[in-house]
Formats: sequence, C-alpha cells, structure tokens
Amino acid sequence: MHWEGIIRHYARFFTPVPDDCVVTLLEGNTPLIPAPALARVIAPGTEIFLKYEGLNPTGSFKDRGMTMAVSMAKASGADSIICASTGNTSAAAAAYAARAGMKAFVLIPEGKIALGKLSQAMIHGAQVLQILGNFDDALSLVCEVSEKYPVTLVNSVNPYRIEGQKSGAFEVCDALGDAPTYHVLPVGNAGNITAYWAGYKAYHEVGKSARLPRMLGWQAEGSAPIVRGHAIAKPETVATAIRIGNPASWKSAEAARDESGGSIGMVSDAEILEAYKLVAETEGVFCEPASAASIAGVIKSSKQGLFSKGDSIVCTLTGHGLKDPDNAIAQSIAPVTMPPNMADVVRVLGFS
Ligand code: F0G
Repeated sequence: MHWEGIIRHYARFFTPVPDDCVVTLLEGNTPLIPAPALARVIAPGTEIFLKYEGLNPTGSFKDRGMTMAVSMAKASGADSIICASTGNTSAAAAAYAARAGMKAFVLIPEGKIALGKLSQAMIHGAQVLQILGNFDDALSLVCEVSEKYPVTLVNSVNPYRIEGQKSGAFEVCDALGDAPTYHVLPVGNAGNITAYWAGYKAYHEVGKSARLPRMLGWQAEGSAPIVRGHAIAKPETVATAIRIGNPASWKSAEAARDESGGSIGMVSDAEILEAYKLVAETEGVFCEPASAASIAGVIKSSKQGLFSKGDSIVCTLTGHGLKDPDNAIAQSIAPVTMPPNMADVVRVLGFS
C-alpha cells in the first residue's frame, strides 16, 4: 500500500484536518528494527527493538508532530510559525514551513546545536536566531512572541504536536501486534514520552492492543530536572538535543511514568556515549547521542535486574546519527592517512 503520511494513515485518531490543508513529507512508517546482538550483550533473554526515527524525512521523530502542527496552522490561515529548539524541532519546522509556503522563525541556543540540524534550518530558508542562552530561555521567548504577535507556536506546548507524535506508539503496536513490555526513550522537553503514552492508551482503548507498556524515560545527568525534582538553571550534556532544564511537558511526563508503572532516571554522558557507539557497532544503526540515552537506560536497568526473560523492549532512537557528525568523529578511531602504496596498505590492514 502507498504510504500517505501519518495524518491520512491514522486519521481516525486525530483531530480532523481538511484534506487540502494536509502538509506532509510522508513522515512516519519508520522501521522497528530487531536488535538481537544488542540484546545478547546488554539484556540477555529479552527482545530489543529499535524504533528508528532517524528515517523520518528530516531525520527525527519531530516530523510526526510537525505535520499535524503545520497542517492545523495552515487550516487556521497562519502564514508563519515559530519555535525554540535544540535543533531537531527547528529542522522539522523549517522543512514543513517550506512545504506549506510559510515562513519559519527558529530560536536556538548559540553554539549548542549539532551541525546537521543547523544546516537543515538554514537550507529550508528559516530565519534562524541564535540566542545567547539555553533552550529554556528560547522557549520562554517564543511563547511570549506567539502570544503577542500573529505567528503560530509549533513547540510541543502546541497540542497538535503531541497528537501527531502519538503515531509512533501506533506503529510499534502495528508492527508487534501488541504493545511491548517496556517502551524506553530519552526525555528532554518531555513531549515525546507524553505522546507515546497517550498513543498507547488510545490504541488500547479501541482494542488495537491488549496491553500497555511500562514507560521508561531517561534524562542526561547534567540535564535531569524531572529526576532531581527541580528545574536546572544551567543544563549541560553532550546530548545537546536533551540539554533542557525546565521541560514544558514535565507534569504529563510524570503522569506517563506513574500511570504506566514506569520510571524516569538519568544516565551520565559517558554512559550515553558508550551506548551510542555500542548500537552503531553491534547493530549497524547510527543514532544521535540523545537517542542513545534510551539504550544507556536499558543497560542501567538491566544491571539493576529490572528485566525478565521474554520481555520485549522498544527503544525509540529519536534522531539520525548524521545530524551530529562532530560527535561521531570525536568518538571514533581516526582514519589512517598514508601514501598510495600497496605494501603500506596491506601492512596497515594487517595482511602482511
Ligand atoms: N531526542 C532527540 C533527538 C531530540 O531532538 C529531542 C528533543 C528528544 C530526544 C527529547 O524529546 O523533548 O519530546 O522529550 N528535541 C527538541 C528540539 C527539544 O528542539 O529538537 P522531548
């Protein structure tokens, strides 16, 4: 069947969008990749699946929410959208605005977004403002601007963003035939854990799945306001996508955690980077550092004895590794530079 994007495919679960207002890049329908080698190493006896959101049109899960938010903005007659972002939201906003013939304004923390994401916002023609502050500063600014001026806010405080992102949970259930035992994902502004939980509940209510998963969210240690129980004024982490000190969906993330019988914990930058390399090396799946917080979380939970034999564990890999080439290069063995000489090549390759 021809894939038509999440709005048309899952129409019965969404606020109706007039057909001529649907702004889509055919997002969604991303693969749920079995990760048996990873499971053997980090949680023997379980089944691990990677929901590879890096294969969305702009390379992250944000496209699911952005197709809804921009379509509804178009339906309301808006001609511009605005967001704060650690990078991926701005990339998606810029692309969907281009598709819709709208103007995008994006506010990003200066020097703290991955290169690929910045290039996306720029090439799609967004007006990019680099704020000498962090994501939380940028988010307060765009909230205020959108209250006072005629521009539509497309951060996840816009309910259509969360609505669209529910489709990730629908796809997991469609692929597995039911919800998994655990759903694991990184937590930044906390919209995605909120959306997945809402999606699992919606599917369960209409009998499309028999059970509900436990939601396991993971923050980076230097940016873990939910775990620590207070906002963090100066969040830090190598996983710049989740470098957030005061998440907008804080309360609903806690509700997802509590209603599902799950947990929200934290992992160090070292643990995130180890998981980032491990999934790339053992499964051939390249995600960005923030995405690997979910894998790092599974490693941690497994060491604590959380999982039982036969558990199914789905990790959302939220963004593509190519978004952040600098970190990939920094974490890998440098290439060998050498003359075009057979003897030297075979020696370095270990054949002689
Ligand atoms: N992973 C990636 C790759 C992200 O870009 C984000 C959020 C998250 C995880 C966390 O998701 O915010 O729903 O809890 N990125 C936002 C942005 C903040 O601006 O691109 P969340």
